Amino acid sequence: MSSTTPLLDVSGLTKHFPIKGGFPIRRTVGHVQAVDGLDFQVNESESLGLVGESGCGKSTTGRLITRLLEPTAGKISYQGKDITHASRKDLAPVRSEIQMIFQDPYASLNPRHTVGKIIAGPMEINDINPAGGREKRVRELLEIVGLNPEHYNRFPHEFSGGQRQRIGVARALALDPKLIVADEPVSALLQKVQQELGIAFLFIAHDLAVVRHFSQRVAVMYLGKIVEIADRDDLYGNPRHPYTRALLSAVPEATVDETPPRERIRLQGDVPSPINPPSGCRFRTRCWKATEKCATEAPPLVQVEGNKPGHLTACHYPETAEVASAPRLAKDPEPAA
Ligand SMILES: Nc1ncnc2c1ncn2[C@@H]1O[C@H](COP(=O)(O)OP(=O)(O)O)[C@@H](O)[C@H]1O
Ligand code: SF4
Ligand SMILES: [Mg+2]
Repeated sequence: MSSTTPLLDVSGLTKHFPIKGGFPIRRTVGHVQAVDGLDFQVNESESLGLVGESGCGKSTTGRLITRLLEPTAGKISYQGKDITHASRKDLAPVRSEIQMIFQDPYASLNPRHTVGKIIAGPMEINDINPAGGREKRVRELLEIVGLNPEHYNRFPHEFSGGQRQRIGVARALALDPKLIVADEPVSALLQKVQQELGIAFLFIAHDLAVVRHFSQRVAVMYLGKIVEIADRDDLYGNPRHPYTRALLSAVPEATVDETPPRERIRLQGDVPSPINPPSGCRFRTRCWKATEKCATEAPPLVQVEGNKPGHLTACHYPETAEVASAPRLAKDPEPAA
């Protein structure tokens, strides 16, 4: 693998869940457009944050990448190898390198198994025999995640919620993964894990405050699409998409250094249904600068003028620095640049 090949390369990734209806014959009456044409990369040892409101498709994205779900369209490459539709057998070597940490770790821990057995499970399944034996490795892993190695024989219910998260992390680490998809984890421990073990992360969160301290790059999702992606400093310092700006205005610490302070942008209305998303730009029903063009043309995710390389924005009328510091109400009309 050349050093320029990203660890994970996703293009056009799409998942439409069929909606079944009708009686007596159930047929597909529509689709939930949960994920609709994502393009992004994750480099080795890097953390990419994936942020957006509930229901925008973050978990579905994570489950597609870890191959728990079959994509409707698009391509997933891992270390330059196409794994989009890889069979279980083809996937075996890769599966151990890509691990997922779930939102609710307790649900994925077998209550009748000891912590030692739970963490050693992936090693047994994949027939991995570390030097010194599995038990020794499990004790090391417990230590890495800050749990007492002596608690090897305890059961999940004997641990607190935070400790159970750590058990989930230890189990994910048991196979020396290169990429971890972490779906809204609470644990601050992951930062240490990423830095010390050099593991790449797709770090899923619902607000921008959480990923700020963890991810070198951040992608913002809205209704199944990435609306903006950039290096952390570019995204927080120069947000160009109105939705990113609205999310950022809700993060208190992001506004601390600004004079005059950034006006809190209150988005009007709810997120529309992914079954029948708005035409053109999906954000237009809540955007204070939407025009006719926004209703007819979907804005491509591109490096708009003024963006640094790698900073991509999907908006016909991207925000500018001057607009950022000008206090305004969400309903103020904006000149269409
Ligand atoms: N198995 C499924 N069948 C049908 N719809 C689903 C399924 N999984 C998720 N969805 C829908 O897809 C959309 C995105 O969900 P999800 O990926 O869980 O979003 P997030 O993690 O950002 O909250 C939601 O509208 C959700 O209801
Ligand atoms: S394309 Fe139009 S509706 Fe969409 S975010 Fe930009 S200005 Fe708003
Ligand atoms: Mg989710």
